[in-house]
Amino acid sequence: MAYSIDLSEKVAIVTGAAKGIGKATAKILAQAGAQVVIDDILPEENMQDVLDEIETVGLRPFYIQADISEEKGAEDLIKSTTDQFSRLDILVNNAGVVADWDKSYAVHVKGLYNCSNYAKDAMQATGNGRIVNISSTCVHSGGTGIPQYVATKAGAYSLTRYLARTYASLGILVNAVMPAVIMSDMIMTRYSSEEEMIKHYEQIMPIGRIGYPEDVANVVLFLCSELSSFLTGQVIVADGGRMHIGI
Ligand SMILES: NC(=O)c1ccc[n+]([C@@H]2O[C@H](COP(=O)([O-])OP(=O)(O)OC[C@H]3O[C@@H](n4cnc5c(N)ncnc54)[C@H](O)[C@@H]3O)[C@@H](O)[C@H]2O)c1
Repeated sequence: MAYSIDLSEKVAIVTGAAKGIGKATAKILAQAGAQVVIDDILPEENMQDVLDEIETVGLRPFYIQADISEEKGAEDLIKSTTDQFSRLDILVNNAGVVADWDKSYAVHVKGLYNCSNYAKDAMQATGNGRIVNISSTCVHSGGTGIPQYVATKAGAYSLTRYLARTYASLGILVNAVMPAVIMSDMIMTRYSSEEEMIKHYEQIMPIGRIGYPEDVANVVLFLCSELSSFLTGQVIVADGGRMHIGI
């Protein structure tokens, strides 16, 4: 029998899912059968194309406009989800910013913690939850000149360990992905064109190419599936080999 990943009957929240890695993750979770709840800070009318695109591969996603950097936003996101679907199985803490110190901390550390903390109460009911945090390899490499980004992504990394330890006895598995060099609006703030970004990295990437949001989404799918049922507190590096075997 072929292996398959079936998330039907599961309800999954992806934060920061209007574009980039979050959107690709929402799409692949929907394709695996989950009812996906998309969170972002954009008004709902700007999200129709994203909802339509995801609906082509699965159930129509439910959009909640919530700023997870505010505790009330995190609380509302989880409460609106459970009010609508009466359960919560998966939380992907993906929302990210390049911003000042306070905002970076509010999104990458406090927001991640608050979403997880409110989600925990809903997940406990089934005794089988999954939380996946999106950190960054810059935690180890030092990154490229944005100290508040590096420091707060380290918060996402260490909270993965804290939450995994704290929630293990509740049946909630908590893991993280550390991406790098993924084509998205965030990384494009450093380059004048996609061609420039690709040219810069193709010389130094061990596998000879940059990454795309789907490369990270596939790892998140694995971490939300039964295939990873013995993993918790793990941090998977998805960077085409750059950190460990790059030049
Ligand atoms: N692109 C990369 O190479 C790379 C590398 C390492 C880590 N990451 C991480 O991956 C995640 C996704 O990044 P991306 O590259 O897709 O970036 P992106 O800028 O394309 O997407 C980030 C999304 O988060 C949303 N967001 C920001 N603040 C929010 C808030 N307070 N509440 C809700 N949503 C919010 C944005 O509106 C946006 O839609 C981020 O956590 C980022 O730090 C990306």
